[in-house]
Amino acid sequence: MNKPIPCSNEFEDNVTQCESWLHLQSLSSNTEQLFNETKQRLVEDPNSLWQFGFEKIHVDFSKQLMTEQVFSTLQKLANERQLQKKIHDFFQAKIVNSTENRAAAHWLLRGDHFRDINHQHLWSDEVEKSLLKMELLVEKLTQGHWRGYSGKSIKDIVNLGVGGSDLGPLMACHALENPIIKEEAKVNVHFASSIDGSQLAVLLSQLNPETTLFLLASKSFTTIDTFSNAETAKRWFACYCSNEKLIIQQHFIGISTSIEKMDNWGLPKSNQLLFWDWVGGRFSLWSVIGLPIALKIGMEGFKQMLKGAYEMDKHFLNEPFSSNLPVILGLIGIWNVNFLNIKQHAVLPYDGRLKFFPQYLQQLEMESNGKSIDLLGRRVDYSTCPVIWGEVGPNAQHAFYQLLHQGTQQVSSDFVAILNRYDEIEEQSSKQSLKHQHLLGLANCFAQSRVLLFGDDAIENTQNRPLYKTHNGGQPSSTILLDELSPYTLGLLLALYEHKVFVQSVIWNINPFDQWGVELGKVIAKETLELLNHHNLLANSFLDSSTLQMINSFHQKVK
Ligand code: F6P
Repeated sequence: MNKPIPCSNEFEDNVTQCESWLHLQSLSSNTEQLFNETKQRLVEDPNSLWQFGFEKIHVDFSKQLMTEQVFSTLQKLANERQLQKKIHDFFQAKIVNSTENRAAAHWLLRGDHFRDINHQHLWSDEVEKSLLKMELLVEKLTQGHWRGYSGKSIKDIVNLGVGGSDLGPLMACHALENPIIKEEAKVNVHFASSIDGSQLAVLLSQLNPETTLFLLASKSFTTIDTFSNAETAKRWFACYCSNEKLIIQQHFIGISTSIEKMDNWGLPKSNQLLFWDWVGGRFSLWSVIGLPIALKIGMEGFKQMLKGAYEMDKHFLNEPFSSNLPVILGLIGIWNVNFLNIKQHAVLPYDGRLKFFPQYLQQLEMESNGKSIDLLGRRVDYSTCPVIWGEVGPNAQHAFYQLLHQGTQQVSSDFVAILNRYDEIEEQSSKQSLKHQHLLGLANCFAQSRVLLFGDDAIENTQNRPLYKTHNGGQPSSTILLDELSPYTLGLLLALYEHKVFVQSVIWNINPFDQWGVELGKVIAKETLELLNHHNLLANSFLDSSTLQMINSFHQKVK
C-alpha cells in the first residue's frame, strides 16, 4: 500500500488579516444601506439574480443581503485562502483530518472515476468485497431468505446506532419513502438511537422477535448509547429463545470499522459489514452504514443516491467559484456569520419527507465546524459555525416563524422545496387533491422567503398599521429547489451541504473532520453512572453541589 500524503497547512496568518477579509468588513459596515441595495437590486434589476444550478438542483441566492461587490470579494477571500488547492488536496485523499492523522475520503464510495492510482492506499479489494456483501445482504433480507430462530423470514429490521450511524440513514429512509415502493417492500426499517431505551422499548412492544433483526451500526463499535440498546435487544430475545449463539447469528448484523470488536461481541464473520476509518461518522451514509437505506429503497436506489453525490463532487471540483454551488453556499454563510453577525441559521424544508433533514444537518455542520482552535493550534478570534436548527417549514410557520418575523434576532435561512410531486399516484381524485396541497406548500415557501426579506414592503397598503403588526424584514435566505425528491437528487443535496461545510472550514482554518468536543462527555457520563449505581462512592467524589444534589435526590427517591 502507498503511504498517505500529508496535507501541508501554510496559513500562518490569521484569516482576519487577509486583504479581502478587511475589505468585506468595510462593505458590511452599513447594514441599512446593504438592505436597501438588496431590495433595490431585486425590484429594479432582473439581471442581478443569483440563481445557479445544474442537473436537477437549482439554488436562488438572490435574497441574501449582498451586492455584486460583496459576492466578488467573497470569491477573492476564497482565493486568498487557497480554496482550490484545498479542494484538490481533499480529493487527492491527503491527510485533511490532522488531529487523527487521516484522510476524509467518503467521496471515494460515490464514483469509480475517483479511484485512481493516488487512492490505492485507501481503496482496495476489501472495500469492494464489503460493498458486495452489503448488496447480497440486501437481496437476502428483502427476498425473505434470511430467517429468524424459528425459521420464519425476517420482516422488521431495527437500526441501532446514534449520531452519524443513525441520522443519515434515518433522514434518507424518511425522505425516500415512496407510497408505491412501500407496497412492494419486503421488510420494514425502524430506528432506535436514544441511550435511555425509550425508542427501543416502544419497538419491542410492537415487534415479533421471530421476525425481527437488529443492525448494530457503530463505526467505533464502542458507543454506549448503541450497545445499551443492543444489550436490551439481546435480553429481549432471551425471553423467547435460550440459544444465544443462534440468536446472534440470525438476529444481529454488525456494521463497523473494527473486526476485532465485532468478533468480541460474538458476531460471526458472515454477519459483519466493514468500513474504514477514512469515512467519518457523519459522512458514513454512503458506506455500509447506508444498509437501512438500501433495504428501504433497494440497491439500485442506493446507487442512484451515490451517483447524485458523485455529480456534486465533480461540480465542486471543476466549477469556477462564481457558479460553484457548495462554494457559494459556504461563502454566503461566512458573510452572514462573520460580517453581518448573524449567528443562527434555520433549515426549512417545505416537504414533510425532509423532516429529519435539519437534524442531520445539525450534526453535519455543528459537529464539523463547531470549533474554536485553528489548524495551527491557536484559539480563533472570529466566529465559526452558527447554531443550526430547523423544522418542516409549513409546520414551523405555526411554531417559531413568529420570532423570524418579529423577534429581535437576525436569523439566516435555507429553504428547500421540491418542484414536482405526486405524479406516481394513480387514483385521480386524491392525486389532484395532493397536487393542490403541494402547490400550497410551494406557495408558502415562496411567500415566506419574500416576507422575511422585504417585511411590510412585500405587500401593498401597509399604512396606518399599528406597530405590533409591522414586519421589518431584512432576514436573508437562500432557496434550494430540487426537480423532484429522488435518491439521485437527495445525493446531490447532501453532497452540496457536505462540501459547503468543507469550504467554510477552509476559510475558518479549522479541521472539520474530528469531534474532540464530544469525547469528554462520554468519559464523564461513565464516571457519573458509577455514582448512580454506588451511593457510597459519592462521599469521595469530585462533584459540584448542583450535580451532587441531583444524584442524592435520585438515591433518595428511586429505590
Ligand atoms: O457523538 C460523537 C460520535 O462520535 C459521532 O461523531 C458519531 O457519528 C457518533 O458518535 C456515533 O459513533 P459510532 O458510529 O462510533 O457509534
